[in-house]
Amino acid sequence: MLQDAQSAYRTITVKPHAHGFGAEVAGLDLRGPLPDDVLAEAKAAWAAHGVLSFPDQPLSLDELEAFTLQMGPFGDDPYVAPMPGHPNVLEVRREPDETLTPFGGAWHSDWSFQPQPPAATILRSEVIPPVGGDTLYCDATRAYEALDPATKARLAPLKAVHSASRAYGPKSGYARELDQRSMPIIVSPEADKTHAHPLVRTHPVTGRKALFISPVYTVGIEGMAPDQGDPLLSELYKHLTQEQFIYRQVWREGMVVIWDNRCTMHNALGGYDGHRRVMHRTTVAGDTPV
Ligand code: SIN
Repeated sequence: MLQDAQSAYRTITVKPHAHGFGAEVAGLDLRGPLPDDVLAEAKAAWAAHGVLSFPDQPLSLDELEAFTLQMGPFGDDPYVAPMPGHPNVLEVRREPDETLTPFGGAWHSDWSFQPQPPAATILRSEVIPPVGGDTLYCDATRAYEALDPATKARLAPLKAVHSASRAYGPKSGYARELDQRSMPIIVSPEADKTHAHPLVRTHPVTGRKALFISPVYTVGIEGMAPDQGDPLLSELYKHLTQEQFIYRQVWREGMVVIWDNRCTMHNALGGYDGHRRVMHRTTVAGDTPV
């Protein structure tokens, strides 16, 4: 079921963002099990809009886990230790005295280096700073659709090589900064492994194609030397991050946001030094990109 007009929803209110990407959803309570028709409409809205925000949903950690399981099985989170007693919940935390770039503070799609990267990430806001701390989302579907036919044909056979090395490998930025961060980030030689995925992937629900690359996790293009592959990737990142493809999530406390890693990138912004920001995060397992 693919729905994007409010008239298509009977049980929930879906307000698309003005410039055509992401939507705010009201009229449901995520704290308990969603009735089948409400869950089906929430999933349809998520497929149609890529990023959904649900204001005023102060879920406990148990409720966050239960909502996640309604969207699908948990994904595997390899490089951040989970919260005590909640093996599938990560705490994204930055303390007032931290000055480094926030966790997730560069364009990426979560864990895209995995053979089956997570379909969804769900983030629930616990402590929101009075300034800054927004999250940007990029619509990789409309970015793909806006490419000219010759570029689409050029990209069609390509595979992008993904790796966690730049973020979590022994020589990564996080490896050098572990003692300056409050988050329990795990650095490992495992992160240097690579995995190739189609550079353009087809969404299993909508059938729409999207660019599936990111500056954090894409380390090259299969079969291309860096002097060929890197300029092509840079050109695509410049295209993807144009204003018309970006949605800015301004957080309020007690908000839940779910995004689709199969067709979006995101980037956690700073701008709140001197303030605490705490979010709770789960992932929903995905399938092999095709
Ligand atoms: C992340 O990349 O999961 C962090 C997003 C955020 O903190 O806004």
